[in-house]
Formats: sequence, structure tokens, C-alpha cells
Amino acid sequence: MADRLLYEGKAKQVFETDDPSLVLVYFKDDATAFNGEKKGRIDSKGRLNNAMSSLFFELLAKEGVPTHFVRAVDERTMLVKKLSIIPLEVVVRNVVAGSLARRLGWPEGKALAKPVLELYYKDDGLGDPLINRSHVDALGAATPGELDELSGLGLKVNGILSAYLLERKVRLVDFKLEFGRADGRIWLGDEISPDTCRFWDADTGERLDKDRFRRDMGGVEEAYQEMYRRLRG
Ligand code: TMP
Repeated sequence: MADRLLYEGKAKQVFETDDPSLVLVYFKDDATAFNGEKKGRIDSKGRLNNAMSSLFFELLAKEGVPTHFVRAVDERTMLVKKLSIIPLEVVVRNVVAGSLARRLGWPEGKALAKPVLELYYKDDGLGDPLINRSHVDALGAATPGELDELSGLGLKVNGILSAYLLERKVRLVDFKLEFGRADGRIWLGDEISPDTCRFWDADTGERLDKDRFRRDMGGVEEAYQEMYRRLRG
């Protein structure tokens, strides 16, 4: 079966299927950072991110979050509902890290009194700039009602994943979600993995995510393996 490539991103490829409402997502080992300026490979990443994303999507679906996930079809591929992607990245933060630390001059590791929700405009040419609700409205990227729904889902996902991860001795520092439209409603799309989340060991603060690649810390593949080991329990 030679499925037609519909789209190729930095870490994934999307293929058409015989069913126009479904697509296949293939997870590559390629890794990039800083809007593609830094390039590399993380051995086994495709397999591990497919497995971890599948597990997270199944957990969220059980808790009533609408997700694009249908099923994993092989080690590196998942079958998902075809969405028309909303060009926003919804970031939820529980602990100061990364760009929030840089933007506000706060120390990494400072716990936030309440989760912080941020919106970024998905545009590689612009480097995915931080935007606010009125920018979203002016861009026409999502309606105010849709934005309320995205925000509510972002916080709901945060509650579910934070509790699940803490039982596995992992602190959910922050993460990024993407959403899309299909069948007249909104679904959670993309992936949930150490590429798109910050996971810190709850006791030691050791980083178990892509920051090891972004910051040249070494032990990248081992960190992804360790996250998968903890998720399987
Ligand atoms: P940031 O601190 O660099 O803004 O990242 C916040 C969260 O979003 C972090 O968990 C990593 C994730 N993220 C992505 O998934 N894709 C991206 O392109 C960026 C910049 C961050």
C-alpha cells in the first residue's frame, strides 16, 4: 500500500489513506530546535514518541477529551482523524522554564501559583510568535468561542496529565498542544511526547525531555526511554 505523502514536518510525516476522514502519522527520529536552526537525530525517538503519544491520547479520551487518535498501526505510525489544523500552539505551564524564564526574568523551577496559558501563532517564517486573544481574533485564527474551548481543554489536559505523571514520579512542567476542526467540532491533535512537554523527575528535577537535546546535555535517548518506562508502569 503506497500511501500518498500529504505533509512533511520536522518530526513527522502525514500520509493519506483510502478513507478521506483518516490519515497516518509517521514519527521520525529527526529532531530540531530553535525553529529548525539546530538539527539532529535521537535514535528510537519515532518509536518512543508514537508509543507515548498513543498512551496519552488513550488516557485523555477515557477522561472525555476529544482527540484525533484512532489507534497505533505499527511501531512508528498512528492512525488519526484528519483535522483542519488551527494555526495556534496552546502552551500550559505549571513551573517557570524555557521562554517564560527568559521573557520575565524568573528563575527556572519556580512553581507558578496557577497554571499559565499562552497562545503562539504557528508560523515558521515568524518563529511562532507569542500572541494574545485579540491577535487571534484579528487574525481570524479561531473564534472567541473556540478559544474558550481550547483554553478549557488545555487546562483539563493539564489536570489529567499532571496527576497521572506525578504518580509516576514525574513533574509536568509545561507542554504544548495543537487542535484542529473536523465534523463541525474541535479535537486535540498533533502529539504529546518529550518533544512537546517538559518532564522533570519529581524528586531530583532531572530533565526527561527534549531540553536535553536543545541544551546539549547528553543522555537524550536514555531520557526518552526512561519516560516510556515510567509511563508503562
Ligand atoms: P518554551 O518554554 O520554549 O516556550 O516551550 C514551552 C513548551 O512548549 C515546552 O514544553 C516545549 C513545547 N514546545 C514545543 O512543543 N514546540 C516548540 O516549537 C516550542 C518552542 C516549544
